[in-house]
Amino acid sequence: NVLILDFGSQYTQLIARRVRELNIFCEIFPYNHFPSDLSSYKAVILSGSPFSVRAEDAPHPDLSQIRGKMPMLAVCYGAQYLAHFAGGEVAPSNIREYGRANLSFIKGEEAFFDGVNLNSQVWMSHSDTIKSLPTNGVRLASTKDVENAAYRIDGETTYAIQFHPEVYHSTDGKQILENFLVKIAEVPQNFTPNAFVEEIVAEMQEKIGNDKVVLGLSGGVDSTVAAVLLHKAIGKNLYCIFVNNGLLRKNEFDSVLEQYKGMGLNVKGVDASARFLDELAGISDPETKRKTIGRVFIEVFDSESHLLEGVKFLAQGTIYPDVIESVSVKGPSATIKSHHNVGGLPDFMKLKIVEPLRMLFKDEVRRVGATLGISPALLGRHPFPGPGLSIRILGDITPEKVRILQEVDYIFIEGLKTHGLYDKVWQAGAILLPVNSVGVMGDERTYEKVVALRAVESTDGMTADWVHLPYEFLMLISNEIINKVKGVNRVVYDISSKPPATIEWE
Ligand code: XMP
Repeated sequence: NVLILDFGSQYTQLIARRVRELNIFCEIFPYNHFPSDLSSYKAVILSGSPFSVRAEDAPHPDLSQIRGKMPMLAVCYGAQYLAHFAGGEVAPSNIREYGRANLSFIKGEEAFFDGVNLNSQVWMSHSDTIKSLPTNGVRLASTKDVENAAYRIDGETTYAIQFHPEVYHSTDGKQILENFLVKIAEVPQNFTPNAFVEEIVAEMQEKIGNDKVVLGLSGGVDSTVAAVLLHKAIGKNLYCIFVNNGLLRKNEFDSVLEQYKGMGLNVKGVDASARFLDELAGISDPETKRKTIGRVFIEVFDSESHLLEGVKFLAQGTIYPDVIESVSVKGPSATIKSHHNVGGLPDFMKLKIVEPLRMLFKDEVRRVGATLGISPALLGRHPFPGPGLSIRILGDITPEKVRILQEVDYIFIEGLKTHGLYDKVWQAGAILLPVNSVGVMGDERTYEKVVALRAVESTDGMTADWVHLPYEFLMLISNEIINKVKGVNRVVYDISSKPPATIEWE
């Protein structure tokens, strides 16, 4: 295992993902809160940071248990931190280096740079620079502006680099990480989807024994993979509940329920649409909608699970980014929207929690799902928010508006599929606007609803750009929507990126 110490860099998760791509398991811990027993770790990576090491309030953890005792790679801030406290000098640089640079010197005989050529492009992002190396430092690389772009400490397996190997623009970044982890630190590359499944199944069996587990399925990738994994571990002792909140996509409830049954899961579909729509009536405020749906979901789920006897565990599809977020250096980041399905159910349920996916990134969840034989169509589904269509109906929600939006959304999504565009888009959907506009159909003047279509590219939903869908496609879809969906006479396409907009409109 590899331990990544996070100093608050925006790139820390990226380091973890690159390491995992090498089939090496790694975990991120905040610099001020890491395990005291490090015996299960084979190497440590220090991340970058927005701080200057010279600042009073910068992270200055005690690394005496790590440095010199196990292989260590210090990246950016990490490299400066090492230099600053071990006899070197860090100072503001005359030239702030941001972006691409090229390695103008490489100490070629070092295993650290195996397979890396002179001039290799690296990604820099720092304003301080390492003026002189720490005691016993040996320079390994330079760029035009940064003399000490990489160094190691003589007599230790300690390496440091000023640039960011985890960033895609560092052409040989992955090779450098591999050189350090595999050739130098000799970490085994045994973290594969199959190995994960085997290990987690054993762990779940051990933890759960013969007890019963209840799990809320949503139709999404995470809860589905969690269910199939648990099913493999404990079979019929897993009870799944799939709640229809009346705000799902058209036909979604029935078709997903069918698929789950086809996968051998023990699943109960609960149609609570009427109750959700009743409770939502008259509510326009987005946060109140989310809270209402969250509350009703818990009430429905709670009373359903009380019908099952002797349930001891609640399973959740929490994934690693949620886990890191909640313990990160920066703390849970400011709530922009309260995503109700992150954070779990209240403790009145008195159930112990199991989270089989809590160590996986999204793409790893998909790979594990594929190993488990879940269909590519299910694994490739776009993300869909827990509050469903409620946050895509601007203003108050009525059954009629839900119907209109379901029809529009259906035409759009099916259109993306038939035109081979669905897999090129990260997320897509339609939004029902709270305005009417004038139109003309035949000789009649109409005064009907406007819908917006949204399709974005993203990797994690944190940032996103609108997809440049072909005009031809937009034309066909717009015609089909206006012709087929009663109550809509205008279609617009959202061309805003995130930031400053968000993916959802509410
Ligand atoms: P935003 O609108 O914040 O969306 O750019 C980012 C991603 O999060 C999804 N989203 C939600 N998911 N409950 C959820 O489960 C919510 O309340 C919620 N709000 C937004 C959104 O669909 C996108 O994938």
